[in-house]
Amino acid sequence: MSGKKPLFERRGAFCCVVENHLFPLRLSGGPDGELSAALRYLNQRYTMPNERAQALLTDIGTEELGHLEIIATLVYKLTKDATPAQMREAGLGGHYAEHEKALFYSDANGIPWTAAYIQSKGDPIADLAENIAGEEKMRATYQWLINLTDDPDLIDALKYLREREVVHSQRFREALYLVEEHYKTHKFF
Ligand SMILES: [Fe+2]
Repeated sequence: MSGKKPLFERRGAFCCVVENHLFPLRLSGGPDGELSAALRYLNQRYTMPNERAQALLTDIGTEELGHLEIIATLVYKLTKDATPAQMREAGLGGHYAEHEKALFYSDANGIPWTAAYIQSKGDPIADLAENIAGEEKMRATYQWLINLTDDPDLIDALKYLREREVVHSQRFREALYLVEEHYKTHKFF
């Protein structure tokens, strides 16, 4: 991220964080956010029926943890130099009261993250279908966030994250096919 002014002063970026009750502070902690995705995949891998599906979940789950770090860095840079008054004016007074400017995982409406978002069902076909939907929802969310800002650096980061969700969705579709083939071969149903 570049910029001559502190990032939080750059109107498009700050407005994106703020006027929507902030995406980054909160994006990571929603049902379709990076935290939920990372833990969902790293849990589901144990009950996948073949090694390729297990490896895919390990790869993508690990990558989602990296995305979580990207979001955390964005949030930190967007808010680290804001005054309490600026936080309040930005709609983040409640966050400031509870957490000062520490990062905290909640959704776009400020609802705290919960383990119920992990959605590991134990049925590989259900889990992979869930993951495809989750990736498509995250792709859509990143697009809505892009629509909410005019900051070029923030848009670049969001576009990168959006494109990775497209790739993940495609890979989960391949994994779903492999698992369905596995079950046909092994006649579990
Ligand atoms: Fe993803």
